[in-house]
Amino acid sequence: MLPQEIIKKKRDGTPLAAAEIDAFIRGLTAGEVTEGQAAAFAMATYFKGMTPDETVALTLAMRDSGKTLCWQHLDGPVLDKHSTGGIGDKVSLILAPLIAAIGGYVPMISGRGPATPAAPSTSSTASPANTRVALERLQEVVAEGGCAIVGQTAELAPADGRLYAIRDVTATVDIRPLIVASILSKKLAAGLGALVMDVKVGSGAFLPSIEEARRLAADLVAVAEGAGLPCRAVLTDMNRCLGHTAGNALEVREAIDFLTGRKREQRLATVTLTLAARLAELGGLADSADAALLMLQRALDDGSAAERFQRMVATLGGPADLLDQPERHLAAAPLRRPAALDVEGFVQRIDVRALGLAIIELGGGRTRPEDAIDHRVGLSDVLGLGDRVDKDRPFAIVHAADEADAARAIDRLCAAVTVGAEPPSSAMSPIVEGAAAS
Ligand code: URA
Repeated sequence: MLPQEIIKKKRDGTPLAAAEIDAFIRGLTAGEVTEGQAAAFAMATYFKGMTPDETVALTLAMRDSGKTLCWQHLDGPVLDKHSTGGIGDKVSLILAPLIAAIGGYVPMISGRGPATPAAPSTSSTASPANTRVALERLQEVVAEGGCAIVGQTAELAPADGRLYAIRDVTATVDIRPLIVASILSKKLAAGLGALVMDVKVGSGAFLPSIEEARRLAADLVAVAEGAGLPCRAVLTDMNRCLGHTAGNALEVREAIDFLTGRKREQRLATVTLTLAARLAELGGLADSADAALLMLQRALDDGSAAERFQRMVATLGGPADLLDQPERHLAAAPLRRPAALDVEGFVQRIDVRALGLAIIELGGGRTRPEDAIDHRVGLSDVLGLGDRVDKDRPFAIVHAADEADAARAIDRLCAAVTVGAEPPSSAMSPIVEGAAAS
């Protein structure tokens, strides 16, 4: 089957057979399909779309392009959560040890790709643990402590890595079937028994509109199930920063404070516990989401989730006292400057995407894949919708490497926030849709 014939068929709007998609992806993996052909295929998909069957076939072909993990030796379900990315999203750092503490196993491999303003930083790989590990080590760490959060590996679904790199430079990232197949091929290769998807909605989300987010959620669930992976999606609000912090080490610190009970921001708690309860129920760890919630709350309160987090960090080569002495191990930025607005009132609207851009400009995210990330920088004490601002209450504290970076971030933040005399009449609840069992 010639690649150009497969591309032509897609271009002309005829659905491809599974064997054709499989041949194209095999060719891509082997280096026989050229970059130009892969880009043409992606662009043809942009214009003609894919049927659910085609998307399942693409997902399975990309899954089979590399190794797949097998977990038969474990005594509990293998589960994972994936987020479409959002500002301040440190849910993974809390959810993985929580699920481990109630009997699940979580091999969490963080997302790929260059930073986008929707997800400028990967706090999940910012802890002082070694997150670049071989798959064998990942399996050992998960078996030992119940969870491991590690960086992307080229060993799982390498065809997705190749296609994504080409999509990234050919304006073909934001194509739903390709996004779905990209996310799910890696999850299937990781050998999961169930998956919960956190699909973000709002000004800081990859897909800001609720209709687009709903369509993505529905496709993810349908294609995952079509490929044999039980999956549920929850739509969560991204019209404000999730929690109080955004930026790598600051988010790790917030997750530690959450797990140890020092500080738990309510919306972060709601999102994390809702996703974890859906996952626990889907994976058979609890009979209902309510029963799961009770188990999860107990694991937070009795310290067992915190203990799982500490064990994961230590087993991955990080410090054994990270939870007790986070300030010893998490690097701090040299400067902290308040982003004070020159008006008084209530936060009415936040352009959350601009917060992401501010973090990237501070050095906390990448503009090119090869860029280094400054884990120290970011935002803390970030306010939400309806919070009061005045000269003593800044919108956020900027953590920066130098004065010029701090000033630029402050300008961006001030322009991103709309303040009014009254609180906004309605604020979106942290869970937008999908919390109930279906
Ligand atoms: N994340 C992925 O892993 N793949 C995509 O295509 C988009 C987001």
